[in-house]
Amino acid sequence: HTRTVFRGTGSYLPSRILTNDELAKTVDTTDEWIVQRTGIRQRHIAAEGELTSDLAAHAARAALDAAGVSIADVDIVIVATTTPDLTFPATAAIVQQKLGMHNGLAFDLQAVCSGFVYAVATADSMLKNRLGRRALVIGAETNSRILDWTDRTTCVLFGDGAGAVVLELAEGEADTDPGILASSLRSDGHHWQKLYTDGGPSASRSMGRVKMEGREVFKHAVGMITDVVQNVFAETGYSVADLDWFVPHQANRRIIDGAGAKLGIPPEKVVVTVDSHANTSAASVPLALDTAVRDGRIRRGDLVMLEAMGGGFTWGASLIRW
Ligand code: ACO
Repeated sequence: HTRTVFRGTGSYLPSRILTNDELAKTVDTTDEWIVQRTGIRQRHIAAEGELTSDLAAHAARAALDAAGVSIADVDIVIVATTTPDLTFPATAAIVQQKLGMHNGLAFDLQAVCSGFVYAVATADSMLKNRLGRRALVIGAETNSRILDWTDRTTCVLFGDGAGAVVLELAEGEADTDPGILASSLRSDGHHWQKLYTDGGPSASRSMGRVKMEGREVFKHAVGMITDVVQNVFAETGYSVADLDWFVPHQANRRIIDGAGAKLGIPPEKVVVTVDSHANTSAASVPLALDTAVRDGRIRRGDLVMLEAMGGGFTWGASLIRW
């Protein structure tokens, strides 16, 4: 019997911080409105010329260091992103080059904000099917490049950043052995027009900008999140009472609080970074995870639930014995 174990985590945030007050100088908004509706106080913005692959490579190096694993020992690289450097090749291939990796395989995964959770479940399946022994799973975004900076209903919500984990196939089957216990992934494409970019290579020969029906996303988010979290609990036989840490996608404080309350998770077990990172899409879960691992909250043996929901709609959850 095998388990996919989290060997190390890493993250990277561009140095430039954009506060709500600064944003209020260029669009008709206020710090008070943004904080009250979203919990966001600031976001990081990539420098000119700093690409998604750069953010991803920084986060990957930090995760490899934490894991004590050399890039030569990695077999699979998955980059979850909605903001690839180029239409092709995969940003993961560019990351491979930046990390000096010649072996293995690399590809991108597109599930918008759920991308990292999808990528963890994908890597877990690939490792268990012996397509490799170690995987580098990265969520990386330069959301600032696809925002309409004149649209106050979207531009205040997002930020740039990257997070990464090193996953490794290990022996183990006991409940207390570390590893991914179960994942649940869902999507329903009927909702795609509620959150999308109004352009892309095939539709418009361009890139497009983020369009969102905020209230519609909000309306569906809590129900979809609780659905997959409960699926994972049902699959594993664990319950909310057993959970040590809940690491949700960081889109909006009100969605996080709403999902936590509906699931009955005490607020002190919920990792929140949306105040300082804003919504970094596929990077949000690994950024929050790395934050809580490095500050000592998440420890070996803890039961950790990852969860995300985003464009598509897509949504998913994963339960991990840390
Ligand atoms: N500053 C000031 N006023 C604003 C701003 C702003 N940045 N944005 C919108 N408003 C105004 C609106 O124009 C509206 O004015 P009106 O009443 O005169 O028409 C008023 O504020 C209320 O707007 P609503 O959209 O109803 O505000 P709501 O309380 O729904 O909050 C928000 C908007 C924050 C977008 C919320 O709907 C939300 O969080 N939705 C979830 C969307 C989300 O998180 N998406 C992230 C991507 S998806 C994901 O990652 C899960």
